[in-house]
Amino acid sequence: MSAYLKYLYAAASVGLLLGFRVVSKRRKIHGNRPPIVNIPAAEIFNHPREAYEKALREHGPVIAVPRKGLLEFIVDENLCQTVLTSDQSFSFEEAMAKILNLRPYVSFFWSFFREIDDLVQNGINPRLSTIMEQICPVFVRTAGHAVEQKTVDDMFEHAHTTIAEGMIVLIFGESFANERSIQVITDVATDIAGLTGMYSNSSFLGRRFPALWGAIMWVKVSCTTILAFFRFIGPQVWRHLRARNWIAGEEKPTSTLEYLAFKHANKNDGSIGFTSFMWIMSMLLGLIFASVHQTASVVVWVVFELAKRPEYLKALREEAYNHLDPVTNDLDPTNIGEAIQKATYLDSFIREVMRTKGDTLTTCRLTTSNIHLAGYTIPKGHLVFPLATRLHLNATHHPDPSVFRPERWQGENAKPAVMTSASYISFGLGKWACPGRILAVSEIKMIVWSLIVKATPRLKGGEYRIVDPLNITSVPPQGELILEPFSFA
Ligand code: HEM
Repeated sequence: MSAYLKYLYAAASVGLLLGFRVVSKRRKIHGNRPPIVNIPAAEIFNHPREAYEKALREHGPVIAVPRKGLLEFIVDENLCQTVLTSDQSFSFEEAMAKILNLRPYVSFFWSFFREIDDLVQNGINPRLSTIMEQICPVFVRTAGHAVEQKTVDDMFEHAHTTIAEGMIVLIFGESFANERSIQVITDVATDIAGLTGMYSNSSFLGRRFPALWGAIMWVKVSCTTILAFFRFIGPQVWRHLRARNWIAGEEKPTSTLEYLAFKHANKNDGSIGFTSFMWIMSMLLGLIFASVHQTASVVVWVVFELAKRPEYLKALREEAYNHLDPVTNDLDPTNIGEAIQKATYLDSFIREVMRTKGDTLTTCRLTTSNIHLAGYTIPKGHLVFPLATRLHLNATHHPDPSVFRPERWQGENAKPAVMTSASYISFGLGKWACPGRILAVSEIKMIVWSLIVKATPRLKGGEYRIVDPLNITSVPPQGELILEPFSFA
């Protein structure tokens, strides 16, 4: 036998062996794979709740559903807690990397999300009362402007720019808040949020060629908004960081940027080098992405639901009344953080909106190995989603689940809007539950208060329109808001 044939023979044997191993492994997984349910794309995008619930009812607690070129696994209410809290088997970071089309950089995500989590838990949450006092004037000003106009054509834009400006004050301090930086931050928030695929449902390319769509979006966003963020915000941050040395000690940070500066400065002399600067800028990008878009969208939900339910206004206004400036009747920033924490009526209204708005596939994890769940095997590297409506609209956990009743969260079984549980996952669950939820709910409360103390919200035509039923939290509903002047006098 010639050497050439020998090589060919050896290569063929190895190929056969590998092929056999792959096939037998596939068979092994295939044996107890969850049923694959082909749901027509139109059903998924237009009636996701009904479509997924029907599939789970008919095929069992774990199903595999092809969507946008991926095989996704959907689980029912009994498996939600296992999926969201078993961190060894179901990875949050890997799921994020997959959703953002950045799996090759997944190791970056491990440290990135840990750092952002620390930033929110330790750099923002302990300063929340002060932060609310700092950003209150922004909310009062933008609400005043909206009330003057009497109508808000785009409530999302109102909430988005208000929250973006609030985040600028929170992150960098008041001196950074100008028109250009607000524009840069709102663009960054919108575009990075878009990378998660939330707008891909409404684009032909996104539905048909999701990977190509993701790549094009990354190039576009990197060359436009992310570049603008580094070009415009970068030099200001650099100057601020280099203006002094950041030696951690008695001194308390007065902004999120200062928190990061103390944390990442050179331990010997407190200086910030270029690498630390770039890391800080990336953290800030991540923070803006996580904090602005979703909160603004939920504001729209809450305000629209309130506009449809004027019977709640009286009690909500009474709660706000003691925190007004007696001369202007605007919200008084003094102690506003504490006042907002104590606004339990508004809190229960927000929780009820979040429960009933119809989230479906909002939280997910990626399997880190072949995982055995409810008698099935879910293969490694796949996204697993609990179906949120099976929890939020579940009669066992929430009697009369479709009835909007904020009172269910008051009294003996009081539960604040930020309290997660296996029957309420609007902010996720477990180790990766949203660390920014206290800030988010406080901001939502402040937007609602600043509007209703000056105006009665009403929806033109009495209704709003859901744009993307599969992305309820990220893509806000549309409607025209009318603000009828109101005064306590
Ligand atoms: C109403 C607004 C918001 C909603 C509905 C929301 C919802 C969520 C959800 C569902 C998750 C994933 C949790 C999981 O998979 O278990 C999450 C994660 C996260 N959220 Fe929020 N969020 C909101 C506002 C915010 C704000 C204002 C911030 C920052 C100040 C923030 C920072 C984060 C971060 C950093 C994560 C990643 C997880 C971690 O680091 O622990 N979010 N959020």
